[in-house]
Amino acid sequence: MTRPEPGQFTEKGMPREAITAELNKARLEDVGWISGQSWGLVYHAGEDVDEIIREAYQLFAHGNGLDPRAFPSLKKFETEVVAKTNFLLNGGSDAVGTMTSGGSESLLMAVKSSRDQARDLKPHIKEPEMIIPQSAHPALDKAAHYLGVKSVRTPLDSDYRASLDAIREAVSDNTILLVGSAPAYPHGVVDPIEGLGEIALEKGLNLHVDACLGGFVLPFLEQLGYRIPLFDFRVPGVTSMSADLHKYGYSAKGASTIIYRNPDLRRYQFFVVTNWPGGLFGSSTVTGTRPGGPIAAAWAVLNYLGEEGYTRLVKEAMETTRVLQEGIKSTGKLEILGDPVMSVFSVASSHVDIYALADTMAEKGWQLGRQQLPPALHLIVTPPHAKIGDTFLADLQDSLHRVEGSNPEACEGIAAMYAMMGTVCHQPDLQQFAVDYLDRTYRLEDQSSGE
Ligand SMILES: Cc1ncc(COP(=O)(O)O)c(C=O)c1O
Repeated sequence: MTRPEPGQFTEKGMPREAITAELNKARLEDVGWISGQSWGLVYHAGEDVDEIIREAYQLFAHGNGLDPRAFPSLKKFETEVVAKTNFLLNGGSDAVGTMTSGGSESLLMAVKSSRDQARDLKPHIKEPEMIIPQSAHPALDKAAHYLGVKSVRTPLDSDYRASLDAIREAVSDNTILLVGSAPAYPHGVVDPIEGLGEIALEKGLNLHVDACLGGFVLPFLEQLGYRIPLFDFRVPGVTSMSADLHKYGYSAKGASTIIYRNPDLRRYQFFVVTNWPGGLFGSSTVTGTRPGGPIAAAWAVLNYLGEEGYTRLVKEAMETTRVLQEGIKSTGKLEILGDPVMSVFSVASSHVDIYALADTMAEKGWQLGRQQLPPALHLIVTPPHAKIGDTFLADLQDSLHRVEGSNPEACEGIAAMYAMMGTVCHQPDLQQFAVDYLDRTYRLEDQSSGE
């Protein structure tokens, strides 16, 4: 049978074997996440965990969490996932939460709840604002943009943590919400959550802690005896938290949690339409249909791994992180930015052009995240990296030799693209560039071109 054109709707379906072959062929193009070549995007805990994910996902691929009466199974899974996450984050017995499709949706929900609560309880605020440190994830800007809230970015201290002085100064009569990260994506450092809690309580504001990255790591690090600054509901003033199952929860993509200290605030997350002919419409999160696969897979992985499994994985990732950081520092040409608490960190250089180094590493198959302000490389360390640490460090050393003499200041006028391996050279209008890029990438005629 001849292969159909990508946009062609074939009269007859393709044979099953051909579909399987196409699927597997397409996968070969993807980054080698099982062998540890990517340093973000995928969090792989091993083949046994993958088998559990596949089984649960497959069994519930058609499940729809939209109607808990039709799918009591998914309701049970979601409740237990939220309860376990709440246990880890010390939310206590009043806490409530929901699962969402990912960190961005959890953050969107946190902002919506605070916005709608402020509309209700502080109606004099007509132009609500939230204060987010420079390092907080852009999904918060997106949420603010979608919801008509102004996001006020505040500078970081020299240790890359949120500046409490700057936040205090930024609070205005319109402020409704403060945000801290545990840790923040760019440098892996935890913001001063206790200080943020004090400001929140003093000014009567909500405080969301974005633990999308750290929610399933920091609690286990604490148990292992690492010194971790208080970051969760034990801090008075924290009103909500997000933690992603599809990151260091090691579950399938499409799973995160948003937890509230008490049900009052969560009520504002829900959306209701009462006069629709289709019936009384009540929706707990952004999505209408709620895919069962990620919910079931998250439940399965949490139960499969248990405390012992997570502790082992956290230990492994931390040990690999230590080896990598020591190797990186020993080059004498690279430095780790700030004081990262877990297995996420960034590497800068005052000796070589860091993006040239990234290009050279890319030629060797290493896909490193690139950052800006300051230019740096980004690493999220996971279990597959344990096996390739030595090769990575040898390749890094070799790449450093190859870019010896490059200008560390050469990165001026160059921007790094988040979650992509590219840098953007000397574009006068980055906003325009990024929109054009997305437009080109998602065209129908050439799905593969993203350049
Ligand atoms: C700290 C933090 N918050 C939020 C997000 C957004 O999560 P998602 O990509 O699942 O929407 C990320 C993603 O890396 C993150 O690191």
